[in-house]
Amino acid sequence: MLPPTAETVLTAVWLMLPAYVTNSSAAFFGGKTPLDRGISWGRNRLLGDGKTYEGLLKGFSCGFLVGVAQQQVSGSFGDSPWFLVSLFCLSAGAMLGDILGSFVKRRVGVKRGAPVPLLDQLDFVAGAWLLLFVFARDWFVEAFSWEVAVAVLLVTPPLHLLANYAGFKLGRKSVWW
Ligand code: CTP
Ligand code: MG
Repeated sequence: MLPPTAETVLTAVWLMLPAYVTNSSAAFFGGKTPLDRGISWGRNRLLGDGKTYEGLLKGFSCGFLVGVAQQQVSGSFGDSPWFLVSLFCLSAGAMLGDILGSFVKRRVGVKRGAPVPLLDQLDFVAGAWLLLFVFARDWFVEAFSWEVAVAVLLVTPPLHLLANYAGFKLGRKSVWW
């Protein structure tokens, strides 16, 4: 199989940017109030202190707003007013996938912040795609060709690690991953 072309990679990053911004803004701003309110399930926390209301709301808002700006530039997210649904799915889905990822990590006994390669980098992609598939399917299958989807899966993990390394250097994250 040929590696994706530069154009495919750029399309992939452009379409996923609202989800990327959602995820990195949640990490950049962080928060104090845990979504699980400190509740445990079995031996471990339901989600852990890494999933907060503030992070969720700031992440969602930043991702959604960047998507609205992108839509003004390129119109890539669908016709008006349906692009709002696509953008909601990308931002809310990213937060949902990130939460489900932590839920799974806690169930198998992985502590908050401990790395699980690929799950940590792709849980938010899965969440965004799940919501898109359910609520914006026509746009989703049209915009995400197989080539673009493969490019997303290939470029997201290194981009995610790069963003986390930047967050670490900026003193916003305690671990480089
Ligand atoms: N964050 C937040 N609220 C969210 C998502 C993320 O406040 N809904 C912030 C937290 O400060 C979190 C940081 O972003 O520590 C990084 O997110 P992530 O890597 O997903 O969390 P971890 O701390 O690594 O925890 P987990 O093991 O549950 O993934
Ligand atoms: Mg993490």
